[in-house]
Amino acid sequence: MKKIISIILALTLCIGACFAFASCGAKGKTLEQVKEAGKLVIATSPDFPPFENLVKNEVVGIEIDIIKRVCQELDVELVIEQMDFDSVLVGIQAAKYDCAVSGITRDADREKNMLFTTPYYNAAQCIVVKAGSSIKGAADLEGKTVSVQTGTTAEDYCLDAKITTKGFTANADAKNALTTGKVDAWVVDNCTAAKLVEANDGLVILEEYFTEEPYAFAFAFGSETLVEAIDAIVKDMIESGEMEQIFANHGEAYVAP
Ligand code: ARG
Repeated sequence: MKKIISIILALTLCIGACFAFASCGAKGKTLEQVKEAGKLVIATSPDFPPFENLVKNEVVGIEIDIIKRVCQELDVELVIEQMDFDSVLVGIQAAKYDCAVSGITRDADREKNMLFTTPYYNAAQCIVVKAGSSIKGAADLEGKTVSVQTGTTAEDYCLDAKITTKGFTANADAKNALTTGKVDAWVVDNCTAAKLVEANDGLVILEEYFTEEPYAFAFAFGSETLVEAIDAIVKDMIESGEMEQIFANHGEAYVAP
């Protein structure tokens, strides 16, 4: 009897280990591997000012400045790969890139699939409508159609709240859906809304902010030592006032989370 139990136990352990191994799949780079490669390859969706945005074909923004400093400290070259936000999340889980830098909100659901640094900033969701809209807050979104960027926490929020959404891979298209009257509202992170609406007369950001959006950099499992090193660098940047300066350089006020 004892023998049978130990065989069953051994088999269970074995199957468990196989599953764990299979689900790990590709592994994220360690700090040592990144240093050895001499470069940090980041995935970003540069449609998210002031954090990452394309200006004359160059990716610029608050997070780009932060990660540039991180690379300086690590003494590696920064390599930027551009893609849709959706692909950033999928790609980082598959360890196709070393680090995802994309205004990513750290939340419990995502933590099941990837590693995160300690959040360096707290944003929120907001609602953008056309001037004169009857929508005055989140409660009014019921029964309305809302545009969101695919794969974002804005989409998660609307789906949870059973609000009808139209998803767009590019943030600009989610905004255009509102300007062209294809949707009643656009749900997006507050700082980005402010930047993208600046240029667009006739759009209004509602005062009511909702949800907490702690921004962090994401990594594939296996990158624990890399996360630890980047965490320490970012912590120093916050403590020395350098973080505040980077935000100020982009016209934003920094509030530590
Ligand atoms: N903070 C939101 C999220 O994590 C939106 C991020 C969108 N980022 C971007 N680069 N377009 O889902």
